[in-house]
Amino acid sequence: MSYLTDKFNIFKVNNLKPAISPDEFMASILGRIGVIDSKSEGYRDDELERQRDLSIKFHWGHEHDFGTFKVAGLMKNRHILLLEKFLEIFPVTVESFAGKKVLDIGCWTGGTSLLLSTISGYVTAVEEVKKYADTASYLMESFGVNGEVISQSLYSLNSDEFYQVYDRVYFPGVIYHLSDPVLALRILFNSLAVGGDILVETAGFDSDEPICKFEGNYLYHPNGTREELNRGGWNYFKFSGASLERMMKEAGFENIETHWDKQINRLFAYGVKNRQVPICKAGLSVPDIR
Ligand SMILES: C[S@@+](CC[C@H](N)C(=O)[O-])C[C@H]1O[C@@H](n2cnc3c(N)ncnc32)[C@H](O)[C@@H]1O
Repeated sequence: MSYLTDKFNIFKVNNLKPAISPDEFMASILGRIGVIDSKSEGYRDDELERQRDLSIKFHWGHEHDFGTFKVAGLMKNRHILLLEKFLEIFPVTVESFAGKKVLDIGCWTGGTSLLLSTISGYVTAVEEVKKYADTASYLMESFGVNGEVISQSLYSLNSDEFYQVYDRVYFPGVIYHLSDPVLALRILFNSLAVGGDILVETAGFDSDEPICKFEGNYLYHPNGTREELNRGGWNYFKFSGASLERMMKEAGFENIETHWDKQINRLFAYGVKNRQVPICKAGLSVPDIR
């Protein structure tokens, strides 16, 4: 068993806070899975056809053995494998998480946030889908985790409240879902204190050219059910390492490293905020960003 698997294994029903009944906990978790609910996400009936299945139907993210019951996750044990990968390829150690305020972007059902909480000081998870944010929050409360969940899009972090607050941004599995990756990177850059860093993982392709491929959600829609749409894509951009590096530079990051993993066909990146640098204001989708 790996060090991180071992860490994650503390999240079992026998470690629930005393106020939480194991039976109610299990009923609450299992009762969410598969529920189809567009209203809680605020979708109008006439726009449902364009929404992704993942936002409407509740899918569990990362697999979790709670001891008395297990939930299979669409992402299996990716939360553990990815963190191991980041630690292997970039100048980041487990010890370097200690005491840090970590921002976990796109937390889904919270597997990664729980894992990060075992090695860091405080975890702030951010999730745009309300049903997943609620679940991550329920898990954190049930296990008494030192952290919180912000049930909003990462784009809403563009405010004074989140300016230069965090020490590390953990950003796997999200940037290719975003319509405006440069803006997202800038908002996350601004959320970091000077000296902070970012870990990014994304779908992409292997090329030395600074090019992106636009896919777009509609590509998958015409011939697929909503379920297939969820599985098949709902990506906006896919990146080469050089294009992601340029975007991170544009946002202000330095000491950038990228790594293409040909075994899993995914791109990894790391960058540091050495100073609060200005950004070019021309053409920004949010012109008053800091
Ligand atoms: C593919 S999952 C990745 C989950 C996890 N970060 C991981 O790497 O295993 C992407 C998650 O990001 C969330 N997400 C997508 N766009 C977002 C945004 N703009 N703000 C916050 N969360 C977002 C999705 O709802 C989903 O839960």
